[in-house]
Amino acid sequence: MTSPTVTTAPPYLDPALSIPERVADLLGRMTLEEKIGQMLQLDARDDLDDHILRRNVGSILHTSPERILRANELTAQTRLQIPLLVAEDCIHGHSFWPGATIYPTQLGMAASWDAELVERVARATAEEVAVTGIHWTFSPVLCISRDLRWGRVGETFGEDPFLIGELASAMVRGYQGDGLDDPTAVLATAKHFAGYSETQGGRDASEADISRRKLRSWFLPPFERVAREGCRSFMLGYQTMDGVPITTNEWLLSDVLRGEWDYTGTLITDWDNVGRMVWEQRVQPDYPHASAAAVTAGNDMIMNTPGFFEGALDAVAQGLLAEDAFDVAAARILTLKFELGLFEDPRLPRAELDQVVGSAEHTALNLEIARRSVVLLENDGLLPVQPADVRRVAVVGPLADDAQNQLGDWAGSSGQAGWLDGQPRDMITTVLDGLRQIAPWEVSYSRGAEILTLAPNPAGATFPDGQPRPPVVQPSAPDAELIAEAVAAASNSDVVVAVVGDRIELVGEGRSTATLELVGGQIAMLDALIATGKPVVVVLLASKPLVLPASVQRAAAVIWAASPGMQGGRALAEIITGAVEPSGRLPISFARHVGQQPTYYNQIRGQHGDRYADLTQSPAWAFGEGLSYTRVEYADLELSSTGLGVADTIVGHVTVTNTGERPVRETVQVYVRDAVTSVSWTDKELKTYRQVDLAPGETARVRVELPVAECTIVDAAGIRRVEPGVFELLVGPSSRDEVLLAAEFTVA
Ligand code: NOJ
Repeated sequence: MTSPTVTTAPPYLDPALSIPERVADLLGRMTLEEKIGQMLQLDARDDLDDHILRRNVGSILHTSPERILRANELTAQTRLQIPLLVAEDCIHGHSFWPGATIYPTQLGMAASWDAELVERVARATAEEVAVTGIHWTFSPVLCISRDLRWGRVGETFGEDPFLIGELASAMVRGYQGDGLDDPTAVLATAKHFAGYSETQGGRDASEADISRRKLRSWFLPPFERVAREGCRSFMLGYQTMDGVPITTNEWLLSDVLRGEWDYTGTLITDWDNVGRMVWEQRVQPDYPHASAAAVTAGNDMIMNTPGFFEGALDAVAQGLLAEDAFDVAAARILTLKFELGLFEDPRLPRAELDQVVGSAEHTALNLEIARRSVVLLENDGLLPVQPADVRRVAVVGPLADDAQNQLGDWAGSSGQAGWLDGQPRDMITTVLDGLRQIAPWEVSYSRGAEILTLAPNPAGATFPDGQPRPPVVQPSAPDAELIAEAVAAASNSDVVVAVVGDRIELVGEGRSTATLELVGGQIAMLDALIATGKPVVVVLLASKPLVLPASVQRAAAVIWAASPGMQGGRALAEIITGAVEPSGRLPISFARHVGQQPTYYNQIRGQHGDRYADLTQSPAWAFGEGLSYTRVEYADLELSSTGLGVADTIVGHVTVTNTGERPVRETVQVYVRDAVTSVSWTDKELKTYRQVDLAPGETARVRVELPVAECTIVDAAGIRRVEPGVFELLVGPSSRDEVLLAAEFTVA
């Protein structure tokens, strides 16, 4: 008689044990190859069998609905059956999932200045993402926008570190929900750590000329905040600083992030950072050296450098790395997997997927944030258009009915995912659709202009690592026939709504622009429409602030919506017709001319004068600006106490009155000016803000509070501190000096 075989599950599969115990047990069973593989995240569009069965990858990204299932089947065939972390760029909604809800881009959401609303959007996104079997989103972006020519401005929350910190923190809370073991939570990623956006001339991933003090002053604070608040993953940028690739910047990665901030989460490189050190930056001779440098600098997960697997093995063989060099990183990744509960439940796509993805509730939330993301920049009184004054409206322009383009980058057809060609047309409301749905007028449409065509990149179709190079944009010439049609439609109408802006080919990674002007036939079209003398509402559907032509000074109104998502056209129609009040405020300044770059408001004081010989330096529209359909007056700013200590709180009151005839949601902005600083500093910085709803004629005494401890600068030694002396609290509707009330206080 043979006795039955008794198999006991290994301790790492025992949920009763603590996570450190489970990690230690599992790590002890892993081979060198398995540990190195655990550190690798590879592209699921490539050879999945090879990734999982040969390279033992710990994670995959860019996974189509079918390949998620296949990846899990393959994992079941591996020796230890360690579950995969499945990652995706779910940046403003579940970007590449067919039928998912696509919200305004981060820059659009930032115009709401509403952290609670942004948190709800992230929560809803997490629900859609989690139900489809994806565990990790590469969002939010905490980069500070500087040069507007950079292609990735639209992915940011704009130019102000405080606003970025507020909104990023909200987004992380929304994604991570009640904690990673919440089945609707996804892992958030703070990116791109840090300094990537300080480009030269807007060129993507160029060497960033940025000192440690400047990093500590403005670039690091939003990251520090989310690190301390528990954002469980950080992603690197692409740039070098002071000659050192971010991937091996031990000061930032070890001293600051892990040391000063006690960060215990996972650090992932950006796409092929390890390979780029070899083939692009050329600071490493080969993959073994590059892999060794990346591991030594403290990276946990290596995104899409397939050669890291062999490179790291060779590094051990050559004595560049010890065999146990991978233990810390592998342990962090395994910890994440245990925290997510993946060993008990690999979180595969769930049955209720169809009820959650693109649900009616999420569509309503999308409309809510789209409304709040729209910024009214100019209005001569035409808006809201009064039904009685109008019979016919001419909707004109190449973007008036371009559904996919309205979604912006990192969405259906923006090119990063090959398994879908856009989101369902019937989920998207363009400006033309929106006006046709709700405006009580006859609405005509003419295209008016073409924007661009594409030509092959003369440097070749792919980069040395096989990734596609963006094709070259060729601006379209003005088309006399299209313009004539548009002018005829305008002449036949009472109001013209001209929808212009940028296209996806001018937006994103590797797609910085030399110009900020409208591309192709759009300027000629606008000039011709405005010359008709008909009132023209210019709707700028643009991923980032653009420079508008001189003729727009004669437009009746200008509205900006930064890639406003699926409900953008509906929100715009509601604002144009007055069904909804405009409430967005600029999270970023608009330039008058590309040569004004950079245009951000909080520049360092001390330059000679405030203008170029041939142009003012003041922006076309400044950070914080945005109109409503009423007038708001600020008066009587008073501080409860003007002599304060560092541990005190500044308490101020300001009277805000809606003197017009429509309701308003006013964003009361609070800046601080430090009169004299030991080192050069910005003239003022946003420190807090409050949003108040005021009915027509209503007055509110708004209380603002700010701990004195927030009135800091970073001194010459790189230490953030409050310097005693005289300060001003500045309160008003935008960052423009002319509209801010000031109250002095002294810190002893
Ligand atoms: C490169 C981008 O810089 C990053 O933001 C993104 O998350 C990764 N690719 C993955 O797609």
